[in-house]
Amino acid sequence: MMNETLRIIAERYSCRAYDGRLPEREKLDAIARAAIQAPSAMNRQPWQIVVITDKAFIEEMDTEGMRILSEAGDRAAHERFMGRGGKLYYNAPCMFLVLKQPGTDMDAGIVSENIAIAAASLGLGSVICGMAAIPFTGQKGDGFRKRAGFPQGWEFGIAVLVGRPTVTGTPHEPDTSKILFVE
Ligand SMILES: Cc1cc2nc3c(=O)[nH]c(=O)nc-3n(C[C@H](O)[C@H](O)[C@H](O)COP(=O)(O)O)c2cc1C
Repeated sequence: MMNETLRIIAERYSCRAYDGRLPEREKLDAIARAAIQAPSAMNRQPWQIVVITDKAFIEEMDTEGMRILSEAGDRAAHERFMGRGGKLYYNAPCMFLVLKQPGTDMDAGIVSENIAIAAASLGLGSVICGMAAIPFTGQKGDGFRKRAGFPQGWEFGIAVLVGRPTVTGTPHEPDTSKILFVE
C-alpha cells in the first residue's frame, strides 16, 4: 500500500551535502510548525525549537565542532567528516535545534523526525545530527548556548540540518526482518 505520506517517509534520506542557499522562509515556518505538532508524553511539549539561519553562527559552531573532534583524538569520526567535505554540518544553511528538558529524549526524537519528514515533503534535504551537540561541549559552549537563546535549565536535545541537496541520496534499505507480527 502507498500514499503520499508513506511515499515521503519511504523516500526520505539523510542528506550530507547542501548548496548552502537558504530555503524560503515559508518553508522553514511550515517545518517549525510540523515540529511543534509532534506528540509528547502527557502533552507536556518539553521542547523549544531554535531555527538558526545565521550563516556565521553555523560556521563558527562547525569549526569549533571539528576542532573538538580532532583534539579529542577521535580520528575515525574526524576522517569521516573530512571525507564528506570537512564540515560537521555539511554546508547546511539552516539548523533546527531542538532544546529539551532533562529526561525527555523520546519527545525530542519524535520532533526531529517530524522536521525531517516535513522537510522532505517540501522537497528539501535534511539530516538528524546528534554530532551537533559537540560544539556545546567545549569552552565556547556557554557562548553558543547564550547566542542560541537556551533558556535556563534547558539542554541540547537533537538538531536537524535542512537545506537544498547538491546530490540526491537514496534512503537506506529497510530490513524487514526487524518486523514481527504476533497474530
Ligand atoms: C539520533 C540520530 C542522530 C544522528 N546523528 C547524525 C550525525 O551526527 N551525523 C550524520 O551525518 N548523520 C546522523 N544521523 C543520521 C543517520 O546516520 C541516518 O539516519 C542513518 O544512517 C540511516 O540513513 P537514512 O537516514 O539515509 O535512511 C543521525 C540519526 C539519528 C536518528
